[in-house]
Amino acid sequence: MYEDRGDAPYSAKVAYRDPSVAVHYERDRYRRALGRYTHWREQKVVRRLLERLPEGITVLDCPCGTGRWWPILRSKASSITGVDISEGMLAYARERADIDKSGITLVRGDAESLPLDDNSVDYVFSHALMKHLPIPVQALVLSEFARVSRNGVLCSFSIVTHLSYEVWRHRDLFESFPILREQLAWLASDAGLTISGVERCTTPVGVERLVLLVPEGVTAHADLDTGAGSPSDFPRKNAPS
Ligand SMILES: C[S@@+](CC[C@H](N)C(=O)[O-])C[C@H]1O[C@@H](n2cnc3c(N)ncnc32)[C@H](O)[C@@H]1O
Repeated sequence: MYEDRGDAPYSAKVAYRDPSVAVHYERDRYRRALGRYTHWREQKVVRRLLERLPEGITVLDCPCGTGRWWPILRSKASSITGVDISEGMLAYARERADIDKSGITLVRGDAESLPLDDNSVDYVFSHALMKHLPIPVQALVLSEFARVSRNGVLCSFSIVTHLSYEVWRHRDLFESFPILREQLAWLASDAGLTISGVERCTTPVGVERLVLLVPEGVTAHADLDTGAGSPSDFPRKNAPS
């Protein structure tokens, strides 16, 4: 059972607990023209990486939000566990799960300390969380994803180069935490993961990358034919730059 200690080191951890934010997310965000277009663009990228995963997998969707990814995840997953910290978001997710009635379990919980056993799912899917987290929290959450998953993690990041970082830091965006490519490689390595595939997703609200990470030593996805980036784009820890 999740215990709300009210701590809030970053705004996304509390902002989505405001019921009006959940209402806006479900009713407006992806239903208006801009949101529909954004979702359509994101879907294409998610589908491309999902295609590489086997059928019948068990998936942790964290944060599941209102469950917007389930129609696509269902194409591969035999069961989905949704975890989110916001009761408001989970309320909508519960409605969607009731309609779906097929192997979806919902748990309120914190990605920093997941209420799941080690190696209890095949894959973790995580969309639009990391960009809201300070880098040390991204490290913690990625290590949690690695702990609970047997086969890998499909996760979006706001990845910048040194050049685009310079542009970003002058924009003074509220609570956005982009990560440098080499930082992500370090985080992955610390979590015992290797970057296996990368897909770029450009939408009207920005550029994100969906990254497939697999446990070190697993080569099952090494042949990924990625569209706009490849594992070799990412320097490994201690690799010469
Ligand atoms: C931008 S929404 C993304 C939701 C969903 N993945 C999607 O793509 O529609 C961010 C979500 O992160 C959740 N969240 C923020 N901090 C969290 C944490 N520490 N643990 C679990 N969920 C968290 C919020 O409640 C919110 O539902």
